[in-house]
Parts: sequence; structure tokens; C-alpha cells
Amino acid sequence: MSPQPPKPAARPDKVSLWRYMQLFRRDILSAQPAKLYRAWMAEFRTPFFRSYLANDPALVKTVLKDRPDDFPKSDRIGAGLRPLLGRSVFLTNGETWKRQRRIIDPAFEGGRLRDTYGAMYAAGEAAVARLAMRTGALDIEPETSHAAADVIFRTLFSIPIEDKTASAVFERFRDHQRSQPILNLGAFVRGPAWMPRFFSRATKTTARDIRALIEQLTEARMRQITAGQAPDDLATKIMTTADPVTGRTFTTEEMVDQVAIFFLAGHETSASALAWALYLIALSPEWQDRIAAEAQALTPDFSSMSKLRCARDVFREALRLYPPVPMMVRETVQPECFRARDVPKGSQIVLSPWHLHRHGRLWDNPDGFDPGRWATENGKACQRDAYIPFSSGPRVCPGAGFAMVEGPLLLAMLVRRFRFEVTDREPVPVAHLTVRASDGIWLKVSERA
Ligand code: HEM
Repeated sequence: MSPQPPKPAARPDKVSLWRYMQLFRRDILSAQPAKLYRAWMAEFRTPFFRSYLANDPALVKTVLKDRPDDFPKSDRIGAGLRPLLGRSVFLTNGETWKRQRRIIDPAFEGGRLRDTYGAMYAAGEAAVARLAMRTGALDIEPETSHAAADVIFRTLFSIPIEDKTASAVFERFRDHQRSQPILNLGAFVRGPAWMPRFFSRATKTTARDIRALIEQLTEARMRQITAGQAPDDLATKIMTTADPVTGRTFTTEEMVDQVAIFFLAGHETSASALAWALYLIALSPEWQDRIAAEAQALTPDFSSMSKLRCARDVFREALRLYPPVPMMVRETVQPECFRARDVPKGSQIVLSPWHLHRHGRLWDNPDGFDPGRWATENGKACQRDAYIPFSSGPRVCPGAGFAMVEGPLLLAMLVRRFRFEVTDREPVPVAHLTVRASDGIWLKVSERA
């Protein structure tokens, strides 16, 4: 029997709207009824808006892949993030978004992954060295956060997290999260259109500080590019790529917006997935030993990544059970008909990797940890139709390929050196900026050999 890792308790089927809002504010995941794990679609009516959960693979495909232009991101979705992210690719729509993706996507193409591998490997070695200094029982999330932030700075700007500006961004970012803890609350609990949005002074201050630091990095890089002395990394690639349609490159301001989202989207998510992956293998010593064995073949050469089959399947399974982005929201721009139900213009469409990945009518053993599933018929079919940790369609995460190298690589490097065991503190998943544990993910870490 495969381990059944923690899943938040569902709420009772019927609760008042007021109670629902209360639960929602506490945690989006436990505020939902258990029946959503078997539903194809669900409707939520409130005095202010209507939301529809699209939990049928065919509907998800319509929204994300077939007609994405008809289901843009709502302007309010990123409201909580706007002070930090400005007009970054994560928040824009239409022509602006398309232009931004034309400039960003080439930096993440397959061939470039090979070029960023050395920086990722160096970040992995640094993470191993840090953990060796503090084995024993610990909360692993701060460690994976540190490692993922290090990966971003090394690959983007060729600087390690110890760099003065990089570590300042990382620190200020933690403060920012404390002041603005829940990513999408504003998107789900939407007030009437006239309702203004308030940000606390702390949120505005930390956002301004982070942006000022990033601006220093991008301006310095622009000077290096002009002098012909820039390192060949992701920042240089993005800053020197002209949009093939308009011929324009990003301005410094636009680049600050994009760096802010790379940092946010690229480090929180990977850190969360890696922490859960380590917890899952602590529950399954057998998979852990398999990863440790295959990791012996790992070298600083990119081609050795192909040896990490178990690490990849485990990381994929961690993304299924604990998708770092648990829900996404879109808006209808015209009336729609979903599963014979009328969906008015201006409705919110919620796509929930969290529910789709554990759908009781689609997956075998939906709540079990079973990395072997990816080799089965059911696993393959579900991977194609019901697995969207990186979203899908044109708005798919541009960092998906990057993350699928980084995650298995760091997992393998850590397991090659350390053994991870569970403690008596079982983590409780909650949706913050990403899916985290309410009180950390505690593991006992010891040297392997
Ligand atoms: C395990 C790691 C990651 C996961 C699970 C993940 C997941 C996602 C998801 C689900 C979205 C779509 C959100 C939505 O449509 O509302 C997204 C968008 C995005 N991700 Fe990732 N991501 C990861 C890593 C990264 C990395 C490493 C980077 C960059 C270095 C990155 C950059 C972005 C950007 C820029 C967007 C916005 C794309 C757009 O809206 O066009 N992500 N990510």
C-alpha cells in the first residue's frame, strides 16, 4: 500500500456564505467540500460574483488551450501583487502579454536549459554544504526556499544568494510575504467593481524596496551589456532579445517587472515542491534509496540528468499531490455554456490543479504517493488530460522546463548526501502564496554514508 500523505480536512457540504468566507480567509483548501474531488463542475453564488470551478478535463482544455483569449486573467486577480509586480507578464493580457512572452520565451527554450545547468548544479552544491552544517530535526521549507532563491539569482544574474543585493532581495521578500500573505484571496473574494483596494503601508514599502534593489541589478547589467562585458545568462538573454514583431527590447522598468515575477514565480513554487518532495520520500524510504542510488551517476555535465528517472517521477508526483499553484482564476468576456449550464459574462472561472490532480473519477489511488503511476496506462492518460501543475496552453509557465531540471536535480543532490526521515510533526497543507505547510515541514536530516 502506498503512503497516503496529508490532505486537509474538507468542510461540511452545506455552510452559510458567511461561514464559507470565514473558512476561505483561513485557508482556500480546507474551505472546500469533499464532493469537489468528484465533481466535473461546481458553481458558487455570492452577492458580488459568480464563480465556476471547471474540474472536467474538457472544460479545462477549452479555457486554457482552445480559447484562451476568451478567458483572460481578471484585472483583480493580481491586485494583491501589483505593487510588487507592476505590469509583469504574470498580470497582463492581450497584446502586451503576447509581446512580453515573445521576448521572454526564447530565454527558456530547451537549448538554454543546458546552459543554465552549471549554475543550478553550483546552487545544489551550496545547498548541500549549508544543510551539512545543521543536520538533525528541522523545518526544511526555509532550506528549500534559500536553495531555490539561489538558483534564480545564479541563473538570472550569475550571482549567488550570498551577494549583497541578492540576499537583500531575498530578505525583503520574506518581509513582503508576511505583510501580504495570501496570493489570490483578492481574486476569489471579489467585491463590487467600485470597491477600492487597499495595501498596507508595509506591503507598499517592501514592494518599493524590492523593486529598487532589482533596478540596481538590471541597470548594472545594462551597463555591462553596453560595454560588451555581460555574462551569458538569462538576464542578458532577455534584455538583449528584441520582439520579432515590433523590434523593441524591454525598457529597464519593464525588465524590473519581469525580474520581480521570475523571482516570485520561480523561487516560491520550486521551494514548495522540493520541500514536499523531500517529505514524501521521507514517508517512502524505498523511493528515497532508489534516488540515492541513481544520483551516484550525477555529474556537473547536463547529460547526466537523463539518469535521474526516479527523482523525476517523485518530483512529478510531488507536483501532483501538492501543486505549488493550487488554483488559477480566469474571467468570461462573453456568456458561455459549460456542461449545459449558462455562465454569464464577467463570471470567474476557477481552475484547480489541487482538485483535478486528486480527482476521484480520473486517477487510480488519487491521494496515494505512487511515483510508479507515471508508467501505468492510467497515469499516462491522466498526465495528458488531468495534470496541470504548470497550467497549459499559451499561458503555460515559461519556467516549466527549467523547474523540471532544477527540482529533480536538487532532490537528487540532497538525497545523495543525506537521509530524510519524518518526525512526529505531520505537516498540514494550506494555500498561502503557494501550497505550504501551516507549521513548516519538519524532517530529521542525517548524513547518509
Ligand atoms: C515547480 C515550479 C513551478 C511551478 C509549479 C509553476 C507554476 C506556474 C503556473 C501554474 C503558472 C500559471 C499561473 C496562472 O496562469 O495563473 C505559472 C506562470 C508563470 N511562471 Fe511558473 N512555475 C514554476 C516555476 C517557475 C520558474 C522557475 C519560473 C522562472 C524562472 C517561472 C515563471 C513563471 C512566469 C513568468 C509565469 C507567468 C506566465 C504568463 O502568465 O504568461 N515559473 N507558473
